[in-house]
Amino acid sequence: MPGVGLVVLIGCGRLGSAILEGWLLTQTVAAADLIILSPSEKPAAEVARAQGARINPPLEALAEASVIVLAVKPAMWRDVVTPLLPFLGDRAVILSVMAGVTAPTLAEGIGGWPIVRVMPTTGVSRGRGVASVWSADDRARALGQALFEPMAETVVLADEALMDAATAVAGSGAAYFYAFTEALARAGEAAGLDAMTADVLARATLRSAADSMGEDALEALIGRIASPGGSTRAGLDALAKDGRLGVMLDETVAAAVRRNREMG
Ligand SMILES: NC(=O)c1ccc[n+]([C@@H]2O[C@H](COP(=O)([O-])OP(=O)(O)OC[C@H]3O[C@@H](n4cnc5c(N)ncnc54)[C@H](OP(=O)(O)O)[C@@H]3O)[C@@H](O)[C@H]2O)c1
Repeated sequence: MPGVGLVVLIGCGRLGSAILEGWLLTQTVAAADLIILSPSEKPAAEVARAQGARINPPLEALAEASVIVLAVKPAMWRDVVTPLLPFLGDRAVILSVMAGVTAPTLAEGIGGWPIVRVMPTTGVSRGRGVASVWSADDRARALGQALFEPMAETVVLADEALMDAATAVAGSGAAYFYAFTEALARAGEAAGLDAMTADVLARATLRSAADSMGEDALEALIGRIASPGGSTRAGLDALAKDGRLGVMLDETVAAAVRRNREMG
């Protein structure tokens, strides 16, 4: 695709495969412009190979790369990247999707190449992810946006320190909604539904709510369901009693931010 150039994906695990699938699905990167480095065979990489991607070519091929995407575990990135550095061209950008590895830490191990950090969700595989992007370098940031905007709702963060908060909301958020859905099903059971019926209703409601959300303000969406004096309003009042919903979520996000910082 014009503007992105040759992309090297290092690591084709859970997130790396999701990114690869998203790029091909949304035609963000043409398979012919992809190099994938992976110690073992991966289904997503094999699909890309069949369309023209190169898997583990001689490292000389990296000289033309415009972006190197690091999608390995945070504990191993130095060992993976160090042997590749002599092969990179001057114009390469390093894009890290690794949680908790800061730009200064990356720069200290990598040297002079511009760095962009992106925190995506695996929903990118279906072109429906969420991604937070941060870079101190304009060209690197633009490249990060170009690679993720087609497959994720993307926000650009003003400060790298906000990456922990963005990860606590977006990266962990789906799990919070699932936990809420589970609790809603259990509450339905307590109100007399059998377990399977409560589970079907709670899950279908989450799906339906997500489908109906669109771009409308959340307050307006709530107002459309909760008429004054009605049953939904009674439920919402109980949920927010003494501000407990807000307090609970403040604590939830703060705990995730703290853990992100500890791991960083
Ligand atoms: N999973 C998520 O939802 C998510 C979300 C946001 C950020 N992240 C970040 O994404 C990164 C990857 O996470 P993950 O969940 O995808 O982990 P993962 O499934 O364990 O994937 C890591 C991959 O790195 C590969 N690898 C190991 N050594 C390598 C080498 N020398 N060269 C190239 N690849 C190598 C592994 O290959 P083998 O399988 O062959 O060992 C493995 O497939 C982490 O840093 C994590 O913080 C993940």
